[in-house]
Amino acid sequence: MHKRETWASKIGLVFAAAGNAIGLGNILRFPSKVALYGGGAFIIPYFISLIVLGIPLMILEWVIGRYAGSKGHGSMAGIMGEFFNQSSLARAVGSLGVTIPFLIVCYYIYIESWTLGFAILSIFHKMPHPVHSSDPQLAMMPFLDFYRNYTRPCLWAIVFLIITLCINAYLLYKGVVKGIEFTAKIGIPLLFLMGIILSIVSLSLNHWKGLEGLCFIFKPNFNKLLNPQVWVEAAGQIFFTLSLAMGAIATYASYVKENEDVLKIGLYTAGLNEFVEIVIGGSIAIPAAFAIFGASSIPTLANEGTFRLGFISMPAILMSLPFGWFLSFIWFFLLFIAALTSSLALTQPLIALFEDEMKWSHNKAVSIAVLMVSLGAFLSAFIPEFLDELDFWAGTLFLIIFGFIEIFAFVWLFGVDSFHKELNKNAFLRIPKIFVYIFYSLSLIFIGVLFYFWAIVKFPQYFSHMSWNLIVARIFIVVCVLLLAIASIRSKKFLN
Ligand code: TRP
Repeated sequence: MHKRETWASKIGLVFAAAGNAIGLGNILRFPSKVALYGGGAFIIPYFISLIVLGIPLMILEWVIGRYAGSKGHGSMAGIMGEFFNQSSLARAVGSLGVTIPFLIVCYYIYIESWTLGFAILSIFHKMPHPVHSSDPQLAMMPFLDFYRNYTRPCLWAIVFLIITLCINAYLLYKGVVKGIEFTAKIGIPLLFLMGIILSIVSLSLNHWKGLEGLCFIFKPNFNKLLNPQVWVEAAGQIFFTLSLAMGAIATYASYVKENEDVLKIGLYTAGLNEFVEIVIGGSIAIPAAFAIFGASSIPTLANEGTFRLGFISMPAILMSLPFGWFLSFIWFFLLFIAALTSSLALTQPLIALFEDEMKWSHNKAVSIAVLMVSLGAFLSAFIPEFLDELDFWAGTLFLIIFGFIEIFAFVWLFGVDSFHKELNKNAFLRIPKIFVYIFYSLSLIFIGVLFYFWAIVKFPQYFSHMSWNLIVARIFIVVCVLLLAIASIRSKKFLN
């Protein structure tokens, strides 16, 4: 049996965990959602979801990952198996915790490649210049459409996608310590630095009018709280940004040393992620758009999609400033670093499945995983709606379902006593058992209600529309779910 790696240092572990969670979700998705759902109205359900759902699930994934990792399992299929007698059912259900991050990385990495592309094009002064036009965004709009044209993707888009895939492949070959931990140790401090520079630039725009934009996010606004969609989106954002309910945190947790204080690491992960989301993510895109285009522009911009603020408004604003090309480079490079540390984390569960369960060598596991991701990424690049379809299923619905399964299985089925014992092992703080009861029943009920809302809000919208592109995407999803479930069951024969 091959020897499993463990994180080389505490600080490396904390950075790697932060890199896992901090991603495009913090810097692109969060501001768009906040803008779309009305600033202060979004923030209240967001924080409630963080406390009731985010933190309990984060800690849960660290606890179960450490436990199963010490027994040689790092993918959710193996982890679930370890907790439930290696039954086929447990392994098949657990395999969803490998399929979900895989489906996400298929489109995530394509967007990551845009950020790299736009960063490099900024350096070479190839980004459109907004001079001489009344609205600086006018020049950027056709550029993004040109760049991500589905029927004839521009050459640059393909080249940067290939480069991005190669960078990911290289780092994954290097492994957990020399690849993932190394990238995080350089990337996370750099990300903080670039984030803080851009926050200051954005807030100070137009004589510090950006600061008013920041108030827009935090001014409490109670009149949308009765709208179920706001709750579904806020909770969905918590899952996505913290990388929860998809097995990716548990996979990283499986590489900790057996005596690690995972309670502390879990709290650090959530804390660092929220810092970047609120302080850095919140004070770049929205304040900048607010300062330049005015308050009324915010919901309109957000309505035009998640990419509108980040790939059109932001470069347009930055390019019109002195040293615009450099600021634009920093913006896209910030996004790229954030995305890279996450795409590594999204692919690792698949690699762990291949290595730990199917007993493939590291190189074989990485090669096959990267080939699969490349296939998904090219489909995302060439098929319109493929990306949105994957985001709809894997990026939202599956998370709600799998989050429910995780809490139900690892706390309630496994047993509150056993879970509580595992939780308190080496923890800096003793969590009383009553907290386990309270938090993990609250979170279960909360997810149940969310699921109900989700079903009534989204399902009808969803089935109103049909196309070949959607069918291809759905077939892809079903095939991946089935293949990985079968692989998880059949690999039982390698258990010793
Ligand atoms: N949390 C990441 C972000 O904010 C995205 C993400 C979702 C992720 N699920 C993940 C990253 C699983 C790594 C692993 O962008």
